[in-house]
Amino acid sequence: MGAYVITGGKSLSGKIRVQGSKNSSLPILASTLLNAGKNVIKDVPNLKDIKVMTDILEKLGAKVSKSGNILEMDSSNVNIWEVPEDLMREMRSSIVLMGPLLGRFKKVRVSYPGGCEIGPRPIDLHLKGLSLMGATLREKHGFIYAEAPALRGADIHLDFPSVGATENLMMAGVLANGKTIIRNAAKEPEIVDLQNFLNRMGAHIKGAGTDTIKIDGCGSDELKPVEDYTVIPDRIVAGTYLVAAAITRGQVTLKNVVLEHMEPILAKLRETGCKLECCDDCINLTADTTLRSLDSLRTLPYPGFPTDMQAPMMALLATVEGTSILTETVFENRFKHAEELRRMGAHITINGNTAIIKGVRKLTGAIVEAKDLRAGAALVIAALAAEGETTVYGSSHVERGYERLEDNLSSLGAEIVKKK
Ligand code: EPU
Repeated sequence: MGAYVITGGKSLSGKIRVQGSKNSSLPILASTLLNAGKNVIKDVPNLKDIKVMTDILEKLGAKVSKSGNILEMDSSNVNIWEVPEDLMREMRSSIVLMGPLLGRFKKVRVSYPGGCEIGPRPIDLHLKGLSLMGATLREKHGFIYAEAPALRGADIHLDFPSVGATENLMMAGVLANGKTIIRNAAKEPEIVDLQNFLNRMGAHIKGAGTDTIKIDGCGSDELKPVEDYTVIPDRIVAGTYLVAAAITRGQVTLKNVVLEHMEPILAKLRETGCKLECCDDCINLTADTTLRSLDSLRTLPYPGFPTDMQAPMMALLATVEGTSILTETVFENRFKHAEELRRMGAHITINGNTAIIKGVRKLTGAIVEAKDLRAGAALVIAALAAEGETTVYGSSHVERGYERLEDNLSSLGAEIVKKK
C-alpha cells in the first residue's frame, strides 16, 4: 500500500496554483455523451477518478485524447449503453452517467454502487427523478436497467439537495421532451459549471446556483461539441492548502481560486484568527498568531461549510487551544479520521454526528491509515504539524483528489515523500 512519509514541524510558505475541479470535471466529462464531435476541456486534473471516468467513456466507444490537463472527448462513435461493472465499482460518481446515457440511447445499465467508507450513499433521489421523467427502472442481480423510449420533462422536488442527483437529472433533462424543473436542487459551484458547459453545447438550462433549475428539452441535432471550456478551480483543494498553511502557522498564497466559491471556508478560517488577503483570483493566508477554537462548525450543502473540508478542519482544530465542536450533517459516517488523528495525540470525542475536539499543544508523528480521500488529506495536514515522522498509508485514496500533493507541499517547504 502506498504511503506518504512526512517529517512535521516545517512552517509552509510560498505560492502555488490550484488545480481544476475534480467534482466539476467528472459530470462535464459524462455530459460529452450528449453530443457528437470533439469537445476540448481544459484544466482537468490528472487524477485517478478522472482516469476511471475517461476509461469508462472509452469502453463505451468514445475517443479520448489527453495532453497535460487538456482532454479531447469525442463521443460520436459511442454505441454501448452498459457501464462496465468493474469500473463502476471503482468510482461511485459514475452513477451520473445514467442521465446522459438515458438521454442518448433511451436505455442504460449500471451496477448498483453500494456503500462506501463515508456512509451508505443511496441513489434513491437519482432513480426517483428519472422515474418521474418517464424512465422504467428494473433492478436485477445488482444491476439497474432504465429505459425510456421518450424521456419527458417533469417537475421534480428533491428530498435533499443531492449534488449527484441534481447533475444526473439536469443531464437527463437536456434531451427530454418539454420542461424539467428540479426543485430543492443542489447549489454547489460545480452545478453552475455543468450548466455553463451544457448551455455552451446548446442546451437551455437556467437557475443553477439557486434551488430551482429549469431545463427546456431540445433535440439532439441542436447539441454541438464544446470546442474550448475550462473547468472551475477546485475549491476543496484550495481549502486543503489553506488549512495546511494554517496548521503549520505559515503563510501561503494560492493562485487560481474563485473567491465567492471559497467564502464558506474562508469565513471559518477567519473565525479561527487566520489572516486572509484576497485579490481577483488569489488568496493569501497568514497564521502568525495564536489561533482560536470554533464553538460551532456544521457541514451543510453549499453555501454552507463543505463536508469535504470537515476532515482537514478537524486536523487543524486538533492543534488549536480550547474546545471546538464540529457537526457532520451531510454524510452518516465521515469521522473515520478521528481515530487516526487520536493516534497522533489529538483529543477528539465522537458523539453521533458531533465531534468534540480539545486542542493539544503538539501532535506527534505516528503510523496512520487514510480510509478515504479527505480523511487522507486531513492526516497529511496533521502530519505537517506533528513532531517527528508520520507515515500515512493509503496514499492512493488521496491521489483520487489531489494532483501532485507531495510536490506542491514540498515546494512550500514541507518534508514529504511518497513511497510505493
Ligand atoms: N443521498 C441520498 N440519496 C441519493 C443521493 C444522495 O440519500 O439519491 C444522500 C447521501 O447519502 C449523502 C447526501 O445525500 O448523505 C449528499 O450526497 P450527494 O448526492 O450530495 O453527494 P454526491 O453527489 O454523492 C458529491 C461529491 C462529494 C461531496 C458531496 C457533497 C462528486 C463526484 N462528489 O457527492 O465529494 O462530498 O457531493 O458535497 O461531486 C469528495 O470529493 O471527496 C466527495 C466525496
